[in-house]
Amino acid sequence: MNKNLHVVITGASSGIGETTARAFVAAGHRVVLAARRSELLEPLAKELDPTGTRVLVVPCDVRQPSQLEALIQTAKGKFGAVQVLINNAGVGTDENAWWDAPVDTIDRVLETNLTAPMYLSRLVLPEMLAAKHGHIINIGSVAGQIAVSSLYSASKFALRGFSLSLRRELSGTGVHVSLVSPGYIRTPMTQEAQGRGFPMAKPELVAEAMLGLLERPRAEVIVPWWYGMLIGLERLLPALGDTIVKQRT
Ligand SMILES: NC(=O)c1ccc[n+]([C@@H]2O[C@H](COP(=O)([O-])OP(=O)(O)OC[C@H]3O[C@@H](n4cnc5c(N)ncnc54)[C@H](OP(=O)(O)O)[C@@H]3O)[C@@H](O)[C@H]2O)c1
Repeated sequence: MNKNLHVVITGASSGIGETTARAFVAAGHRVVLAARRSELLEPLAKELDPTGTRVLVVPCDVRQPSQLEALIQTAKGKFGAVQVLINNAGVGTDENAWWDAPVDTIDRVLETNLTAPMYLSRLVLPEMLAAKHGHIINIGSVAGQIAVSSLYSASKFALRGFSLSLRRELSGTGVHVSLVSPGYIRTPMTQEAQGRGFPMAKPELVAEAMLGLLERPRAEVIVPWWYGMLIGLERLLPALGDTIVKQRT
C-alpha cells in the first residue's frame, strides 16, 4: 500500500478537501493544505499533526498564478517533489442566473474550477515525468456529465475533458491522471440544497475514493456509484433529463 507520499490538496479548508486531508494524513501521507482561509487551515493542521512535521499550511488563492507558484515552491521546500496533486478547490454558482450576476462571476468560476488545475498540473508535471511517478486527481462533478447549471457545468465538463485527455497524453509515463466526479455531497457548498431535503452522501466517501485511486488508478470515478446510472439514463433519454432539471429549478 502507498504510504508517506507528498500530497498537495487545494480547497483543504472545508468540505471534501478538509475531509480528504484528514483521510490522507490518517493513511500516513505528508499533506500540504492550501486554501485562502488560513484561519481554518491552521487549527486543522495543528489537530492533524501537532508536531508540524507531516502537515504544512500554505495560504493560497488559486486564481492567482503567482500564489500557485509559491504554493508548489513552498511545498517542495518542505517535502520535496510533489507526488500527488489533488485539484479540489472549486466554487459553485448561486441560485440566481449567472447572466444577472456581475460579469466577473464567469472568470471566478472558470479560473477556480478549470484554469487553476491546469496551472498546477503544469507546475508539478515536469518533476513527476522525470521521476516517472505521480498522480494528479481532479475533482469534477456529475454536473460535468449531466448539464444542470450552465456556468458550473461548463467548468466541470471542461475539467473532465482536460483530465481524460491529459491521462491519455501521459499514458505509459508512470504519471496517472484521474477524475473524481461527485454527485450531491454534504458540504458547505450544498447547504441550501440540504435545506430543501436533497439526499446527500458524506464527503468521507469521496476521500475514500481518492485513497482507492492511489492503489488502483482509474480514469474516472463517480461517487456515489449510483449517479453512474443517472448519467447512463441521461445519455439514453435526454428529454427525461430536461423534465427533471426543469422541475428541480
Ligand atoms: N458538494 C458537492 O455536492 C459537490 C459535488 C460535485 C463536485 N463538488 C466539487 O468538490 C470540490 C469541493 O467542494 P466542496 O463541496 O467541498 O465545497 P466547499 O466546502 O465550499 O469547499 C470549497 C473549497 O474550495 C476552496 N476555494 C474556493 N475558491 C478558492 C480560491 N480562489 N483559492 C483557493 N481555494 C479556494 C475553499 O477554500 P477558501 O474559501 O478557504 O479559499 C474551500 O476549501 C469543488 O471542486 C466542487 O465543485 C462538490
